[in-house]
This record gives sequence, structure tokens and C-alpha cells, in this order.
Amino acid sequence: MPLRNLAGIILAAGKGTRMKSDLPKGLHAVCGLPIVEWIGRAMRGAGVERPVAVVGHGGDLICDALGGGYDYVWQREQLGTGHAALMARELLCDHRGPVVVAPGDTPLLTADALAHLAQRQVETGAGCVVATFRLSDPTGYGRIVRAADTSIRSIVEHRDATPAQLELHEVNPSVYCFDAAVLWDVLPALSNANSQGEYYLTDAIEAIVANGGRVEADLFEDSDLFLGVNDRWQLAEAETALRRRILRRHALEGVTLADPSTTFVGPDVTIGPDTRIEACTEIHGRTTVGAGCRIGPFTRIEDSQIGAGCVILMSQVAQVRMETNARCGPYAHLRPGTVLGEGTRIGNFVEVKNANLAAGVSANHLAYVGDAEVGARTNIGAGMITCNYDGFSKHRTVIGAGAFIGSNSTLVAPVNIGDGAVIAAGSTITHDVPEDALGIGRSRTEIKEGWASQWRKRRHRTG
Ligand code: UD1
Ligand code: CA
Repeated sequence: MPLRNLAGIILAAGKGTRMKSDLPKGLHAVCGLPIVEWIGRAMRGAGVERPVAVVGHGGDLICDALGGGYDYVWQREQLGTGHAALMARELLCDHRGPVVVAPGDTPLLTADALAHLAQRQVETGAGCVVATFRLSDPTGYGRIVRAADTSIRSIVEHRDATPAQLELHEVNPSVYCFDAAVLWDVLPALSNANSQGEYYLTDAIEAIVANGGRVEADLFEDSDLFLGVNDRWQLAEAETALRRRILRRHALEGVTLADPSTTFVGPDVTIGPDTRIEACTEIHGRTTVGAGCRIGPFTRIEDSQIGAGCVILMSQVAQVRMETNARCGPYAHLRPGTVLGEGTRIGNFVEVKNANLAAGVSANHLAYVGDAEVGARTNIGAGMITCNYDGFSKHRTVIGAGAFIGSNSTLVAPVNIGDGAVIAAGSTITHDVPEDALGIGRSRTEIKEGWASQWRKRRHRTG
């Protein structure tokens, strides 16, 4: 259940030096979305209407990429996480209630985890609820320091920790829910007297306790939630983990996955039940796949609507609509603007672009259908080509219903072929062919009886 009156801050001003990239860390994609967008979505899912993104390094790029769903504040100099959070005060100074804070580099964070933290904060009235988790190797993380009565006392950074504190395995993933008034109270008073000379957000914890406030810990079992991306290997690990999470969701909704390790399904894809996804298949963007389809193997689909019962075998499909029971492949290339009507059949080495093929059309072998309309049940023979481009502009080919286009025909657009017309194999068609007519545009076959043996004799004499 999303909370009402929840604010959120994403800390995304850091450079991400270890990514060794010109792109700011938060814009590196995980499962097709920028890392920061994953956190933004988790925040929105938890109830934050407009997350506040604190930007600095590559901030213009981040604002451009994330667009209007966020409010932005700048941190011109990266003086630490505490300083970064303080930048959001100008937008949130009037906010009364919980505010979640998360780093801009944990793409696996979920709405549920944030909602849980916020709920805890609201219920307990604590100045802060800190998410924590346990790691067998806590190297690099801030350690959660508890008092003898187990209450939270402070967070110490790895670099500033005593040998005894380094032995602590409960760590800080940098995900918090503060009471906003308490946060704005303690942040301006933080000191930067530490090993990095930075204002640490983690020091807010000790400050709240020192002011007589209360800090609660919310210990999470699933450490994957907080997998931070600091280098490209962690980026790859986040990709794997998030990919599995998405696939698992589809599997539990009734989708069969022949080989999850080689299957990619983007976060905004929907797939109907009893669809089977074969190995080495990627489905990207805003694609919807209906029920009972068979997709793959070796297939890539992007931003397409695939109706129920479709089969897509070893093909590339982008910005295409396939109606119920349409089939394509192996080795079909369906390009933007293709619409395949119900029961259409597209076979091997067929390319279709910006073309509307009505129900029951078949183009089973080696054809190019570009900028075309094809009426219902028309058969397109092997090797048919629409010559849609004259070197300057594109032209349309309109073929009626129930037509038969013989193999290896060349239709020079603009051209119209009427309903039920027949085009003789091997024709080059440069004029409209009316309904029910035969269009033939090729030299006639000539027969010379006995010619072959004469020819062989001649060859023997001279050879
Ligand atoms: C921080 C925590 C540490 C925790 C770890 C978890 C502090 C002081 N330490 O350390 O306890 O275990 O995260 O990954 O908070 N950022 C800014 N502006 C800045 C500095 C950082 O926006 O001036 C942003 C970064 O872009 C990043 C996030 O804050 O998204 C965390 O910064 P990072 O430098 O990665 O902190 P850690 O050293 O990992
Ligand atoms: Ca980090």
C-alpha cells in the first residue's frame, strides 16, 4: 500500500569514478532503465509523488534523461552525502512527515522495502528508521553501531571505524526514512571532521540520538535489495539479479521460460499466460505479448504488440503489431510500421517494413514488402520485391485481397494490383493490374527442339 504524504530524496550527484565512464553512474542502464529511474520507480511505488533528485556530476544529462517526473536540486560541489541531502531542503522545507532517502546507485531497491521503512517511521515516530542488512564481508560499508541495549547509536564509516567496529557485520545500505523536521534540524549542524573531510549523512544518526531522539533499525534479510553499483562488474551483477526478478514475476504469472539465463524481458513488457519463451530471446521496451504464444529461440522484439497465439521464431521484430495467430520466421525481419493481420504467415528471409498485411496473407520465402498494403489471403510468392524507393522518395504498393503474386516478381511502386489478380512469376510490373486480371511482364519462353545435343557436339569439337 503506497503511503500518502511521503517525500523522497535520491542522492545522485556523485561522480562514480570506478565506473570509468563519461556517463554519470546513475544513467548507466540496468535492464533497459537508468539506475536512478529504478530508484525513482521504487519511490513512486512507495507513495512518493515526485522524488527529489540531487544532481551534480553530469546533472544536465541526468535531468534530460529522467525528464519531468522528478524535482531536481543541484549539489555543485560534492561535499558528502549529508551535504547532498541538505540540498533538498529548499524543496522539502515545508514537508511535514516521513522522507525516504536513498542513494542513486541501488537499482534493486523495491517499493515494498521503502514502504516498509516509511511505515515503521510513521508507526514509531522515530527521528529516523535506518535500513540495515548483514554481510559476511562488510568491507567498505558503514557499520551499524548499537548500544548494549541494542538500540542504534551511530553509523561509522569503514575508513573511520575502530578495529572493534570493523568486526561488526550489520551494515548501512544508505537507505533511510527520516522525519523531515528532524532531518532539517540535524543536517546543517553536521561536521566534516572525518577521514574524507565530507559531511556524512550517516552522522545524522548520532546527532539524532544526541538530541534525545530515537533511531530504529529495519533489518532486511534480502541483501540483494541493496546491491550497490560502483563499478561495471556490479552493474553486470545488478543486471543479472534484476533480470531474474523480472523473469520470476512472469514465470509466476504463467509464462514458461525455456532458459532464463539467456532470456531478457524488459521491465515494462507484459506477457500473457501459457506463452513460452525459448532460449536466447530478448523482449524490450513497451512490448505486449498475448497468451499462448511461442517466442524464440534467437529472437529480439522491441516496442511491439503481439496478439494471442502468435509464433515468432528466430526473428527480429521492432514496432510491429501482430494480430492473433500470426506467425513469422525463422529469420524474418519485421521493421517499424508493420501490421500483420490475423493468421498471417511470414516465412524465412522475409523483410517487411511499414506495411499492412491483412488477415491470412502469406509471404513464406525470401521477399521484401515495404510501404505496402496487402489484402486478405493474398499469397506473395518467393522472391517478390516491392521496389518502393526510386532513389529520392518512397512509394506505395497496394495489392488487393485474394491476389496471387508469382515468385520473383518485382512490383515497381507506386503500383496497384487489384483484388484476385494474378502476377506471373518473374514479372516486372510497372503498371496497375486491374482486379481479376493477369499481369505478366517478362520475355516469353522459346523452345528449340534438339538444340542441347547439337550444342554439346559443337563444344566437343572445339574443346
Ligand atoms: C555511503 C554511506 C555508507 C554506506 C554506503 C552504502 C555515507 C557517508 N556513507 O558510502 O555508510 O555503507 O553508502 O553504499 O553516507 N553522493 C552525492 N553527493 C555527495 C556524495 C555522494 O550525491 O557529495 C551520492 C552518490 O552519487 C551516491 C550516494 O550519494 O549515489 C552514496 O555516495 P557514495 O560515495 O557511493 O557513498 P559510499 O562511500 O558508498
Ligand atoms: Ca556507494
